[in-house]
Amino acid sequence: MQENRKKPVIQVKNVYKIFKLGEEKVRALDGVSVNIYKGEFVAIVGTSGSGKSTFLNMMAGLDRPTRGEIIIAGHHIEKLSESRLVDFRREHVGFIFQAYNLLPQMNAIENVALPLSFRGMEKKKRERLAVNALKMVGLEKYMAHRPTEMSGGQQQRVGIARALVLDPQIIFADEPTGNLDSHTTLDILHLMQEIVHEKQQTLVMVTHDNHLASFADRRIRIIDGVIVDDDEAAEEAEDGEETKDGKTVKGNEGGKDVPE
Ligand SMILES: Nc1ncnc2c1ncn2[C@@H]1O[C@H](COP(=O)(O)OP(=O)(O)OP(=O)(O)O)[C@@H](O)[C@H]1O
Ligand SMILES: [Mg+2]
Repeated sequence: MQENRKKPVIQVKNVYKIFKLGEEKVRALDGVSVNIYKGEFVAIVGTSGSGKSTFLNMMAGLDRPTRGEIIIAGHHIEKLSESRLVDFRREHVGFIFQAYNLLPQMNAIENVALPLSFRGMEKKKRERLAVNALKMVGLEKYMAHRPTEMSGGQQQRVGIARALVLDPQIIFADEPTGNLDSHTTLDILHLMQEIVHEKQQTLVMVTHDNHLASFADRRIRIIDGVIVDDDEAAEEAEDGEETKDGKTVKGNEGGKDVPE
């Protein structure tokens, strides 16, 4: 029997998130299980209110599940205290926000270098790494610009550089192109695709847009807090197990590249 060589970076096991609003309970996540692998660009797709952001926040260690297990890079997220969660995020994950969240009084280099200061890195080194990250997203000419002196697409590139500069194991993005026009959106998606594949990063992106989701390697569709579709389901099937269409899948015959 061929061994499945892929190692998950994120394991979600039977996770529930129930919000209590007075007497009412909202089952934002209603028993989700999934494995996400290194080098994957995954899109979480669903309509408004389906639970996408809740799911992302759980996987990013921004919030804890009501029930279930989330294991990221060997850490059980659901067991960490608030302060350990903060440390965990600093060390392992990067975020790209819809609203960029850049500091207006700082230029591009300073914005990108900022998260490195929390690691106690000296200024020269911080700036060198920030410059490299800005080059990677094609902003050579805008290093000294402040957010108000840049377009939305340029600001989002700064946002991406700020996530990349930490060299995180996983990058999470919640509707990262939500504020951009369609042309700039495609630019940013191509850029994210390129970076994930070149650097063997792992990117988890939330979107309500099926077309944007088509840029990802894999789509996980969610309705009312339940995963209803997952492109990878066939691949995760055990050796020789039958898939939905009756074919037998062995090892890496699911059609995707596996590192090594
Ligand atoms: N802090 C909270 N307190 C109570 N209910 C919440 C909270 N956060 C989310 N919910 C509820 O959980 C459900 C899922 O919300 P979530 O934000 O995950 O949806 P979403 O798929 O990201 O939607 P959108 O596309 O509109 O951002 C919704 O019914 C929402 O009202
Ligand atoms: Mg959301």
